[in-house]
Amino acid sequence: MQYSVTFPGGSVRYLFNGSFEHISQWLNPRECIIITDSHVNGLYNQLFTDFKAVITIPAGEEHKNFSTILSITQQLLEHQAHRKTTLLGVGGGMATDITGFIASVYMRGMPFGYVPTSLLGMVDAAIGGKNGVNIGLQKNLLGTIAQPKFILFDTAFLGTLPGTEWSNGFAEVIKYACLFDKELFTELAERDIQYYKKDNAVTSALIARCADWKNKIVLADERESGMRKLLNFGHTAGHAFETVCLIPHGHAVALGMLVACRLSAQYGMSETVTGQLQNLLQQYSLPTTIQADTDELMRVLTMDKKRDGDGVDFILLKEIGKADIHNIAFNNVRQALASFIHAGNH
Ligand SMILES: NC(=O)c1ccc[n+]([C@@H]2O[C@H](COP(=O)([O-])OP(=O)(O)OC[C@H]3O[C@@H](n4cnc5c(N)ncnc54)[C@H](O)[C@@H]3O)[C@@H](O)[C@H]2O)c1
Repeated sequence: MQYSVTFPGGSVRYLFNGSFEHISQWLNPRECIIITDSHVNGLYNQLFTDFKAVITIPAGEEHKNFSTILSITQQLLEHQAHRKTTLLGVGGGMATDITGFIASVYMRGMPFGYVPTSLLGMVDAAIGGKNGVNIGLQKNLLGTIAQPKFILFDTAFLGTLPGTEWSNGFAEVIKYACLFDKELFTELAERDIQYYKKDNAVTSALIARCADWKNKIVLADERESGMRKLLNFGHTAGHAFETVCLIPHGHAVALGMLVACRLSAQYGMSETVTGQLQNLLQQYSLPTTIQADTDELMRVLTMDKKRDGDGVDFILLKEIGKADIHNIAFNNVRQALASFIHAGNH
């Protein structure tokens, strides 16, 4: 399945059920430089031999920083990259975010495409045009909104994805279900990771369904002045967990969704939803409690971009499939956080 979506920032071709072997239909490999991370390059470098060059960055969120950007810039210069050279980000959300960022600023912009290789990349990070680089504790502090020319979804890459990265991606899938898609929530509750791992067609359909949700929202609000904020469900507290506890993005979002649910119950959501979400997260091997220092979490939360006076904007659920935004006082956030923190090892 293929379609194009035209955002204010550019038109993107979505190539679902794609195959990396046919990438030359979408670009000329001799004029294209791949940016990938060390894990993905180690596994797939035999696919990259026809390309002008491959720039490999060290894997891991701790390398999504400015020294990586400077190193890539230096290598682009050495390879004589110019404004018509295409960049291809091949990897998880870290590699595609870095690619989108550099492609939008190098010589004031060059064409780029994405081949997400992690589930999180396929259902979320590669879609929507946001990219970013971390500065110290501040996630994605520097970033642009720039749309790739195409996104090629090749589920064959998921064959090598470690188990913890599958659950990482499912956190974002569960997020879409909570926000917009009650039917998907029920479907996920009837299945598990093994079910999706065994069936490429089912996984492809799941990825396309998540991409549809994200596209719908980004089309309505590319620059996040309204509706797109809903996609931050689980991310306000999630970013604090990610920064303080150094856990994967999706695992942090899982905990963040629980905190948001606890707060949602104060605004009328039935408490049973928190229990249902807890069960679903456990089913997809995601954490539901963690050992952490509440003061440290609050310190990060008070620096959040969404801070407004003595509170911070949270996306809350009315019920599964319906959400809205509330400003929540910090002391209230602290209480909700505390209910998911335990004393033992996480
Ligand atoms: N731009 C956005 O809208 C957006 C949305 C969500 C997340 N993000 C960003 O995405 C990043 C998280 O993405 P991620 O979870 O994919 O992290 P990641 O890119 O760090 O990948 C996770 C791990 O999986 C490995 N990996 C990727 N594909 C693999 C494969 N096919 N086989 C084996 N190993 C593979 C990577 O090398 C890495 O070790 C964060 O930086 C986050 O800020 C961006």
